Amino acid sequence: MIRNITKQFGDSKANDNVHLTVRSGEVHALLGENGAGKSTLMNILYGLYKPTGGQIVYRGEEVVIDSPMKALSLGIGMVHQHFMLIPAFKTWENIILGTEGDGKLKVDVRIVRERILTIARQYSLQIDPDARISTLSVGLQQQVEIAKALYRGAELLILDEPTGVLTPPEKAKLFETLRSYANSGHSVIFISHKLDEVMEISDRVTVLRGGKNVATENTADMDKQKLARLMVGRNVDFGVQKDSFAGETSQVLSVHNLVVPGNRLVSSLKGVSFTIRAGEIVGIAGVDGNGQAELAEALTGLRHVEQGEVLLGGQNIKNISPRRVIDTGVALIPEDRKSVGTVKNYTIDQNIILRREKAPSASRHGMLAYKRITRRTDEMIKEYDIRYTGRYLPVSALSGGNLQKVILAREISANCRLLIAMHPTRGLDVGAIEFVHAKLLQAREKGTALLLISSELEEILALADRVFVMCDGRFAGELTQRNITMENIGMLMGGETLAAQKEGEADA
Ligand SMILES: Nc1ncnc2c1ncn2[C@@H]1O[C@H](COP(=O)(O)OP(=O)(O)OP(=O)(O)O)[C@@H](O)[C@H]1O
Ligand SMILES: [Mg+2]
Repeated sequence: MIRNITKQFGDSKANDNVHLTVRSGEVHALLGENGAGKSTLMNILYGLYKPTGGQIVYRGEEVVIDSPMKALSLGIGMVHQHFMLIPAFKTWENIILGTEGDGKLKVDVRIVRERILTIARQYSLQIDPDARISTLSVGLQQQVEIAKALYRGAELLILDEPTGVLTPPEKAKLFETLRSYANSGHSVIFISHKLDEVMEISDRVTVLRGGKNVATENTADMDKQKLARLMVGRNVDFGVQKDSFAGETSQVLSVHNLVVPGNRLVSSLKGVSFTIRAGEIVGIAGVDGNGQAELAEALTGLRHVEQGEVLLGGQNIKNISPRRVIDTGVALIPEDRKSVGTVKNYTIDQNIILRREKAPSASRHGMLAYKRITRRTDEMIKEYDIRYTGRYLPVSALSGGNLQKVILAREISANCRLLIAMHPTRGLDVGAIEFVHAKLLQAREKGTALLLISSELEEILALADRVFVMCDGRFAGELTQRNITMENIGMLMGGETLAAQKEGEADA
């Protein structure tokens, strides 16, 4: 139980007298807008932050949790969004790392392996103790993280946005594990912005807003709309309205037979061709890791192109430097918001002008114009509803969703000819997703060509005028306005061909 927890950063309270009671045997969802204080509260419970006030009562006793070590010794485990595994090590080595290293005894690998397999069987985790981490998919790595916490005897497991990067089958597997874990009398705190998931997996749900408690309810008494209203304090529109694409505009991007080498274990591009017109949104659907990241990198000069052609408004931009790609009018919302999207030690202002220092909103006569930058940043903060505790703190102090908003503000407002948006709404709350979708459609109205790469089918369905399904470095098929459906995308993703296409082939 968490009682009256307050956490102050400077003058603002990230948690303001928050309470939370988690029962044994339950999955408890923690919901709230970006910046509501969810991660902060969990970091306090896991001993990463020291609360400014309040108490934690665990199994009837007041405890002070001043380090993750202490949390683990009490039976509290946490799986972070960014995994902390060592890629070159084997699974079992990662799992025991830090537990048996007191130098006294040699580790008995046989016993360790047996214990890991017992845990894996008990909670239906998919674990091969001898597999090297670098060979595992993100979903399997997450299973190792969970096994690691359980190996240490965790009875309360905290998961902060665990499903953002999982494929649908990986997510189903995770939920199975969480269920059997809770059923054996343990507890789970589950943070997610995906309300369907919260409805599916949780027994109870606590909602925070502005660092304060809003409500704790039985999930069975809730629905998506009610949860959304508790979170953002207003009704949320889950669908978007858009006009159909006229199709008569000029071609902005033309990609022909693109071949790109991949990293050792990631698939590369094996010859993809497509075009995007002004005011058109082309969606790339598919399970992550099938070449989508390589495509975005290749188009923006971040990855070498081996073969093929990339033309922007007729001009060759293949293998030119990222800086020149930007100067020719391309904006990128990257997958990795921490290392590619932002500089973590920079302030919001510095990140808002990043790579666009020469724009009139940032400079005058070739010099940085600080007044303009401040004014511009103020506008962006207001428009994108970026919430922070300190205006001039490094962006590493922002919540996950608010960091993403900084990137979105910079790239969408750049008014480029081509905007490449990779998972643009990952980690955003329902209200922010609604807003960003509207902004992307606005860019489309203005004639920007958009490449939308997303693993969220709903997002693709809502926004795209045309869809390519990507599979193993190739396009498995193209869908146009009349046949973009969830079902058709799913079929192409599963390696099937479409009924209509088959008929067409038969006619020919
Ligand atoms: N180390 C820090 N220094 C200063 N402020 C911080 C720090 N960590 C978090 N904050 C602030 O505390 C507030 C709550 O952030 P928190 O990360 O808990 O939000 P969240 O609910 O997890 O949001 P999201 O859904 O975006 O992940 C934010 O305004 C954030 O900027
Ligand atoms: Mg968070």
